[in-house]
Amino acid sequence: MRKLLLILALTGLAGAAHAGTDVTILARTCNNCHGMGGASAGTSMPSIGGLSRGYLERVMKQWKNDERSAITMSRIIKGFSDDEIDALAEHFAKQPWVSVVQKTSPELLSKGALTASDNCADCHGKAGSDPDVDTPKINGQWSRYMELEIEKYRSSEFKMPHRKMKKAVQEEKPAEAAAAARYFGAQSK
Ligand code: HEC
Ligand code: HEC
Repeated sequence: MRKLLLILALTGLAGAAHAGTDVTILARTCNNCHGMGGASAGTSMPSIGGLSRGYLERVMKQWKNDERSAITMSRIIKGFSDDEIDALAEHFAKQPWVSVVQKTSPELLSKGALTASDNCADCHGKAGSDPDVDTPKINGQWSRYMELEIEKYRSSEFKMPHRKMKKAVQEEKPAEAAAAARYFGAQSK
């Protein structure tokens, strides 16, 4: 009897999760790494709360379909249905964006500001906080994480399907793109 109750309880939970009725339960797994509400506390772990719904949905579905490279997320996301991914994207898009202003040397900051305004601002906005619909916010995103992602966009070994973003960083010298990442990481809004 006790076993039957346990099975009922478990299937009940699974059913609720699959119907997308309680996305906060699903999101708990994410918060373990990405922080409460998707506001990350770790340097190579991105913040995801407050990114646009369209961007969140796109990257997660690309990982699920092996169209985009990521060591950790491509494994994690395969355990979620498309409906659950939609619910998670909606949930995290509703959270506030928490920028973490990271200190950087004045030299890197001015070098990065120059690259950012010449070659990144068109899509990301001057401080990374006013992107076009296709583009994620990067003001106060962790710069260590951004540097790693930029390496992935530059390299042909990683599947990063967004052609325009790839082209934008491939046109930069590595040090300039890295300085721009530092600049954006130092912007509050
Ligand atoms: C074990 C830690 C871990 C867990 C749990 C985790 N993530 Fe991630 N997430 C990462 C890492 C690391 C990255 C950077 C890409 C990579 O290397 O996989 C990332 C990247 C992301 C990104 C891309 C952010 C950006 O700025 O482009 C999204 C979106 C995301 N995760 C969503 C989620 C969601 C939703 C969940 C819960 C279902 C989740 N993650 C659970 C570690 C984790
Ligand atoms: C043509 C528009 C465009 C330009 C120019 C551009 N970006 Fe991007 N950027 C994007 C888009 C769109 C994405 C998301 C692409 C995807 O889905 O993979 C992105 C993603 C990023 C990311 C990853 C953010 C995350 O959360 O994972 C970083 C970091 C970044 N851009 C930095 C830069 C820097 C630095 C420059 C200038 C050297 C730049 N971008 C120029 C459009 C652009």
